[in-house]
Amino acid sequence: MENMRFDFSGQVAVITGGAQAICRGVAIAFGKARARVFILDINETGGESAAEAIRQGGGSAMFVQCDVAGARSVQGAFSRVRDQVGRIDILVNGVGGFRGFRFLSEYSEEEWDRTIDLNLKSVFLCSKAAIPLLTRGKSGRIINIGSIAGQTVMKHADPGPYSAAKAGVHALTRTLAFELGRDGITVNTVAPATTATERALLNRGEEQMAEIAASAPLRRVAEIEDTVGFVLFLATSEAGFLTGQTISVNGGRLMI
Ligand SMILES: NC(=O)c1ccc[n+]([C@@H]2O[C@H](COP(=O)([O-])OP(=O)(O)OC[C@H]3O[C@@H](n4cnc5c(N)ncnc54)[C@H](O)[C@@H]3O)[C@@H](O)[C@H]2O)c1
Repeated sequence: MENMRFDFSGQVAVITGGAQAICRGVAIAFGKARARVFILDINETGGESAAEAIRQGGGSAMFVQCDVAGARSVQGAFSRVRDQVGRIDILVNGVGGFRGFRFLSEYSEEEWDRTIDLNLKSVFLCSKAAIPLLTRGKSGRIINIGSIAGQTVMKHADPGPYSAAKAGVHALTRTLAFELGRDGITVNTVAPATTATERALLNRGEEQMAEIAASAPLRRVAEIEDTVGFVLFLATSEAGFLTGQTISVNGGRLMI
């Protein structure tokens, strides 16, 4: 979908996790498509660099430092967006992830909580903060980044709390879509499969990445661009009658 001509002129897009990898790609694509982009991330260097890349390309972007797992930090960040532009058209809840694999019985309570907070509570906190600012009518959008791990077990090694949190994100998608439908706001999730990002490579190693690619019907892992186009499409008016859905962009892995 890279070559589709998206145009979000006059719209405000808030992207969490836009400092690197998939959501940096999402933020830059929204910037190219003329949205006014706010990047919320804990990583100042990466966030500033992504915002600068958008500005260098002629777009509009601002980085706001935010810990999406902390209510006070989220409130502060969304207040800054409100003070700058007064509204949000598109919220992409992109922060998420996990580090390493363990059997469920080996997770500490702290690690369980941290993973659930990062992947699931963050969607609750950011959506709650964004809802009063989201445009009612036709352009209000919440787009979550879920995961194939929330839909099926990962055969090469399944990260329990992450999978549970992502399944929770898919469920929250329906709740939010149901509650916000009367305001014309759509809520959907894009659920990528294993993607060629630094973190995925760190977690799985080259050999496992190659095995995952070989076992997928399309014989490759996902690239960042595979997810980016779907996120942008969900923000268009053409996608305006789609809500409460999890779109699984997995190269056919879910069907086997
Ligand atoms: N990479 C994959 O293989 C893959 C597969 C399926 C789904 N996903 C999902 O896609 C999304 C992006 O994953 P990725 O691998 O591209 O990103 P990543 O893990 O490389 O980067 C995550 C970003 O979130 C930021 N971040 C981390 N903790 C934060 C916090 N507390 N507050 C604010 N920002 C914080 C980081 O600074 C970073 O910019 C995640 O939701 C992930 O679960 C990724």
